[in-house]
Amino acid sequence: MDKRVVFSGIQPSGDLHIGNYIGAVRQWAKGQDAGLNIFCVVDMHAITIPQDPKTLAQKTKEISAIILAAGVDPEKSLLFVQSHNPDHANLGWVLNCYLSMGQMGRMIQYKEKSEGKGFVSVGLFDYPALMAADILLYDTTEVPVGEDQKQHVELTRDVAERFNAKYGETFVLPELKIPKVGGRVMGLTDPSKKMSKSDSNSNGVVGLLEDPGSVRKKIMAAVTDSGSEVKYDWDKKPGISNLLEIYSQLAGVSVSESETRFAGLNYGQFKTAVADEVERFLTNFQKKYYEIADSEKLDEILRNGAERSYEMSHKKLLEVYDRVGFVKP
Ligand code: TRP
Repeated sequence: MDKRVVFSGIQPSGDLHIGNYIGAVRQWAKGQDAGLNIFCVVDMHAITIPQDPKTLAQKTKEISAIILAAGVDPEKSLLFVQSHNPDHANLGWVLNCYLSMGQMGRMIQYKEKSEGKGFVSVGLFDYPALMAADILLYDTTEVPVGEDQKQHVELTRDVAERFNAKYGETFVLPELKIPKVGGRVMGLTDPSKKMSKSDSNSNGVVGLLEDPGSVRKKIMAAVTDSGSEVKYDWDKKPGISNLLEIYSQLAGVSVSESETRFAGLNYGQFKTAVADEVERFLTNFQKKYYEIADSEKLDEILRNGAERSYEMSHKKLLEVYDRVGFVKP
């Protein structure tokens, strides 16, 4: 039996764009057949900073439907919303008591997120304890997160080791897995910077749920470079290279194959072909997305995911309660 358990926590905030899709989202569905893959929409982490309630609710559903539209199969994998399973907060509390103020205060993300803020919640400070609970409840073996979360995964291992040393083997120590990025996508208006939802110029960003027609216009208006040849050369032709990258990734062909396809075309013809591909991709993706988002199936999938996650997590929580000396009700 494959004992691999992969836990991904996904924040329900912001709008995902094609850069996120190419770099991360589409990888979520890959590897589903190896071990158990858990996708948890971490709404409880989201409220560590101020959130508009309506937006949070909408984003929680949205990201869940995006995960499904990207090909995550709720039969094979586990998809649920963090606040639907109370074990996360409960284990988070216990772990709190085995983490020191000093250790938590060294978390870089906390320092960055709290800097210059008038109101800094205790939740923001305590964020990594809840994250450790997410991971440890499921005997997770792998946590695929970016470099920015490395310290939190180390802290998770640390608290697990401390607990195990004191009470006996209870938790599995998870490994950090920095996922390979599927491809880099830069902004359409400034190809020297990564495509980013915080870009002040929204013409540089292609949202996954954006109207495909208006996206066409953005692609046609994307910055190109001097010269007239369609060539992959990030130094001399960053704008063209970025469009070639986007095309190749979405069409599922190599960059050199794309270069061959577009040899002899001028920039305008090339952009039309890229716009066609992006439009085709978005139309297909959104069709799947809205089928899921507009049906009652989504709520059912999430309810089911919460139940299944609880079956797993509750055993672990009760074991922890027993070890620390909480009497049974
Ligand atoms: N902290 C993660 C982020 O900001 C989200 C997260 C919460 C997470 N719990 C997790 C990631 C557990 C991996 C495992 O991206």
